[in-house]
Amino acid sequence: MSPLTLTPIGVIRSPHREAAGAPIQPAYAAAEGRVIVEPAYAEALADLEGFDRIWLLYWFDRARPWMPRVVPYRDTRTHGLFATRAPARPNPVGMSVVRLLRREGRELVVGGIDVLDGTPLLDIKPYVPAWDAWPDARAGWLDARRAAREVADGRFHREE
Ligand SMILES: C[S@@+](CC[C@H](N)C(=O)[O-])C[C@H]1O[C@@H](n2cnc3c(N)ncnc32)[C@H](O)[C@@H]1O
Repeated sequence: MSPLTLTPIGVIRSPHREAAGAPIQPAYAAAEGRVIVEPAYAEALADLEGFDRIWLLYWFDRARPWMPRVVPYRDTRTHGLFATRAPARPNPVGMSVVRLLRREGRELVVGGIDVLDGTPLLDIKPYVPAWDAWPDARAGWLDARRAAREVADGRFHREE
């Protein structure tokens, strides 16, 4: 496969400075963050205010090299990487549904951020319940709920 080139469209600001202690999903996150979009893309934010929640797609820029099997935060057993949301991925793309609290020009104030400060932003999409929510879907090993952890440690973080 040919390599792809991605250019960040902005940056995500958050109070989370390091992996250890950061929430593992927006569902467990209370903190507010800011999504700062580069001026070249500001016009593309038009009409986003009507959405309660948005998808953020971003690059886990501080993740350790990927591993085919991992022990995810919500279990004590090993699982295939692609059956998890672990940050250490071949293409370390993260996705978070966050609350859109308000827009201030080319900045979005969001609630429930599970992203580290300074994370490169790749894309923004509206969250549409009719398309994105399937509450009765099976969730594989997560349905067994072997670990109730809600914050990360350093296991997927790269060595400094
Ligand atoms: C388990 S991941 C889930 C992220 C996203 N909601 C998803 O499902 O793709 C969340 C953890 O990723 C780590 N993280 C967040 N931003 C990161 C970054 N820029 N580089 C490396 N790790 C990051 C933090 O430790 C955070 O607790």
